[in-house]
Formats: sequence, structure tokens, C-alpha cells
Amino acid sequence: SDLGTFIAGLPKAELHLHIEGSLEPELMFALAQRNGVAIPFASIDEVRAAYSFSRLQDFLDIYYQGANVLVTEADFHDLAAAYFARVAADGVVHAEIMFDPQTHTDRGIAFDTVIRGLLSAMEEAEAEHGITSRLIMSFLRHLDEESAFATLAMAEPWLDRIAAVGLDSSELGHPPEKFARVFAAARAKGLRLVAHAGEEGPPAYVEQALDLLGVDRLDHGNRSLEDPVLTARLAREGMTLTVCPLSNLKLCVVDDMADHPIDRMLAEGIRATVNSDDPAYFGGYVADNYVAAAEARGLSRQDLARLARNSFLGSFLDDAAVAAHL
Ligand code: ADE
Ligand code: ZN
Repeated sequence: SDLGTFIAGLPKAELHLHIEGSLEPELMFALAQRNGVAIPFASIDEVRAAYSFSRLQDFLDIYYQGANVLVTEADFHDLAAAYFARVAADGVVHAEIMFDPQTHTDRGIAFDTVIRGLLSAMEEAEAEHGITSRLIMSFLRHLDEESAFATLAMAEPWLDRIAAVGLDSSELGHPPEKFARVFAAARAKGLRLVAHAGEEGPPAYVEQALDLLGVDRLDHGNRSLEDPVLTARLAREGMTLTVCPLSNLKLCVVDDMADHPIDRMLAEGIRATVNSDDPAYFGGYVADNYVAAAEARGLSRQDLARLARNSFLGSFLDDAAVAAHL
């Protein structure tokens, strides 16, 4: 379509992407076979049929199970290489990708195996597709503070290759305050900070992410809009929100794409961006997310250009690189 062509042609950054969430069923099967790992699905169609969720936890249970096929450095490389090859066609020129080390280290995969595989694909992506990238190491919030500190310690030799730490997994019952000390330690090491907040959790979790973690960027943030004071604050402080429309629909954060708040966020003056979250599970990569939001909410080309511009403004690129993209 004309809209699809316009969107794919907009240079954009993707700021909210879990690399484990880009594991397509075809690659899941191939890696299961390569590594001799059993998966509870008989066919690719069966995998896709299992991707029906009524809340975040439904998805997380399947997502962690899928990650079991990732074993060797080559697996992590191939996973990330497939993501970069796919989003080159979506107009992505920069990607800040999250990975969940604990998902792998807790089943005996070395931290170094994971990060070496990802970094080699990132280097190739720059050479082959002209896509620059950064890594965000995300802590699983359903695990304890001690496990997050142990993960930060494993990252020590790699700190110059990691841009930021993040916070993901089951939000309800695991408020940001649980990780205030480990985020302070990460900040002291020179890392930037992001956290998922306000996806299923209340506006108070967003306030904790701002006040107790001191995040540089918020992942999701949808439920902030329930609080007018918080909404005004996000706009005033120029906080970037990494919003994920298809994820929001699949995880029932919104009941219908027609109810999606992306344009309301822009109207409130919030620096909102559009991202894919876990594209292999939610039915689309980043350009599909722009298209779905644009069609459902009647976004103008100016709105779409604003969203793409926001993706660079909200990135962890240095000022000169941001300016070069605007
Ligand atoms: N891990 C991967 N995707 C996630 C999401 N949307 N929310 C929380 N944790 C996640
Ligand atoms: Zn996410």
C-alpha cells in the first residue's frame, strides 16, 4: 500500500525489541533440531496457534519456553542476524536491542556465549545493512535483587559493549522499587537505564521507575495516561516512551487497536515512539506496528514522521549521530 511504502521509507530507530522475542517458529524448529532440544509443538502451525494470549503472563510462559532452543554462540548470532535482515526492509537504521541474560544463565548457558553471539551479529549488521545498534541488558523482575546483582557482575568484562540496563518480565507484584539498588549500581558503572512500567502495572509503578530508578526512558508507559499529573510530567520532562501497538493488542493492554492511545500521547506532548517488542509472537515487525497504529487511529504522515523522529531523539546515540538522522 501507499501507507506501507511511506512507512518503510521512513528511516527509523527501534528502541524496544527483545531479541528472544524475534525467534520465529521456523528458526525455533531449526535450532531445536540442531541442538537436540525437545519443544512441545509438533509443527510450525501448532506453534503459531499457541500464540493467543489474554495477559502478559500467558505470553511470558511461552516466550521463556521458546528460548530453550538457544544454546550456542551461533544460535544467538543467527537469532540476531535474522532480526537485522528482516528490519532492514522496514527502514530501521538503528536498533537498541534488549536481551535477558538470566533466561539463559539460569539454564547453564554462559553469559559470554550469549553476548558474543549477539555482538558478532551486530557488527555484521552494520557492515551488511548499515544498521547501527546497541545492547540493553534486561533484568527479569520476577527474580530477586541478588540474581540481578549477579547478572551485573557477569557483565563486568563487557560494560563497554552494553549501553543500558532494563527491567522486564512479570510486572504486577514486582514494582520498580525492588531494583532500586541494582539500578543505582548500574548507573554508577556508566550505564543508561530503562524499565518496563505501566504496561499492566499502575501509574504508581511508572512514578517509581522515574523517582526510584531514575530511568532515561520508559518501556510501554501506557497506563501513565490514567493520571493527568503524571501525563503532564512525562511531557514536561521530555521522557521517551517506547510504545508497542501490536504487543498491546495481543496482550490485551488495549481491547481494540481503535482504542490505542498512541495519538493521545503525541497530543499530550509526550515523546512517544513505535516499536515491535516481541515481533515473532505479536504478529509484526516495527513497520507493521506503524501501519496498524496509523490505520486504526488515522495517523497523518506528519504524525508518522514525528514518531520516527522521536525514535532518534529518544535513542542512546550521541548528539552528533542523532542530528545526522534528523
Ligand atoms: N519480555 C518480553 N516482552 C515483554 C513485555 N512486553 N513485557 C514484559 N516483559 C517482556
Ligand atoms: Zn518489552
